[in-house]
Amino acid sequence: MKVMERMEMAERTTINILGVETSCDETSAAIVRDGREIIAEVTSSQIDIHRLYGGVVPEIASRNHLLMLPYIVDEALKEAQMAISDVDVVAVTNGPGLVGALLVGLSYAKALAYAAKKPLVGVHHIKGHIAAAYLQYAQLKPPFLCLVISGGHTNIVHVKGYCEMESLGRSRDDAVGEAFDKVARCLGLPYPGGPEIDRCARLGNAEAIDFPRVLLEKDSLDFSFSGLKSAVINYLNTKKMKDEPFDIYDVAASFQEAAIDVLCEKIDIAAKRIGESKIVLCGGVACNSRLRQRMWQLGEREGYELFVPDVKYCTDNAAMIASDAYYEYMTGKRSDILLNAEPSLKLS
Ligand code: KG4
Ligand code: ZN
Repeated sequence: MKVMERMEMAERTTINILGVETSCDETSAAIVRDGREIIAEVTSSQIDIHRLYGGVVPEIASRNHLLMLPYIVDEALKEAQMAISDVDVVAVTNGPGLVGALLVGLSYAKALAYAAKKPLVGVHHIKGHIAAAYLQYAQLKPPFLCLVISGGHTNIVHVKGYCEMESLGRSRDDAVGEAFDKVARCLGLPYPGGPEIDRCARLGNAEAIDFPRVLLEKDSLDFSFSGLKSAVINYLNTKKMKDEPFDIYDVAASFQEAAIDVLCEKIDIAAKRIGESKIVLCGGVACNSRLRQRMWQLGEREGYELFVPDVKYCTDNAAMIASDAYYEYMTGKRSDILLNAEPSLKLS
């Protein structure tokens, strides 16, 4: 039975879900009502710590989650003016992500659910990113097409129902956010590189350097960003070897435009192939200002209806986890105390 049918049949009661997210470098807890309404959300970013090392150091991430999470959950409950007894379900990201970081959130959520006698729901991180759009767009319902673009993922997902998804394409090597971060690092920009490239690109000429647009086989919906990343690194190395100057703003703008050309081309092919005109953008890279502009232009040209969550809900947060958990819970999903962290959890 489809989730909406089940929901319509079920007597409507309010469900408050406490979500916990620790899959990478944000420690986050949120309380969301009926999958759509954020009652409280508290996120502590570790970016300033990891910036010192030029990227996320997994062991440091785990240790900081351990330090912060109890306070973050308490703060979220306080902000919601709720006790744990007022919460109906505890939800937690159990993959994919950094295994140590996931384990901290998972152990905490399992202990909390067990002690408070609340049902536990494990959430797939990508499904969480997709659900971020429900927090912003009250009218948004599946089916739709979703471009999930983050530091760890580049996926085109056909969201057929709240809990029914099919991955139509994925990166065969680097995720697009990873390419942004690596190129930024080669340009001497701090971590995370995505927002830095975005900022520098606004001052550069996107046509200055012709970096490759890797589209793979004809009609493939998969991605490959390692060739583009290598092309930028080779360009920079050649310039340095020849002792020639280069314009960091032009490099950022030309790289960014090449990556965006590929993202726009693939989502356009996917939309036409499955005949879907509703498109959701999510994940950290969906914060990119030029990508947002290009996607609006594409939507206008092709008649697509675009849904792009606020920047705050594109990057990792626990509200999106609580939102997805609501739909999982309504279809009857319950996780048990043996739920494990799965760093490479597949999207089913
Ligand atoms: O979704 P997210 O917070 O974490 C993962 O699940 O990976 O995404 C983080 C990624 C990083 O690679 C970061 O550089 C990228 O999102 N990012 C951006 C922008 N803001 C964040 N990439 C391009 N332009 C941006 N404005
Ligand atoms: Zn994420």
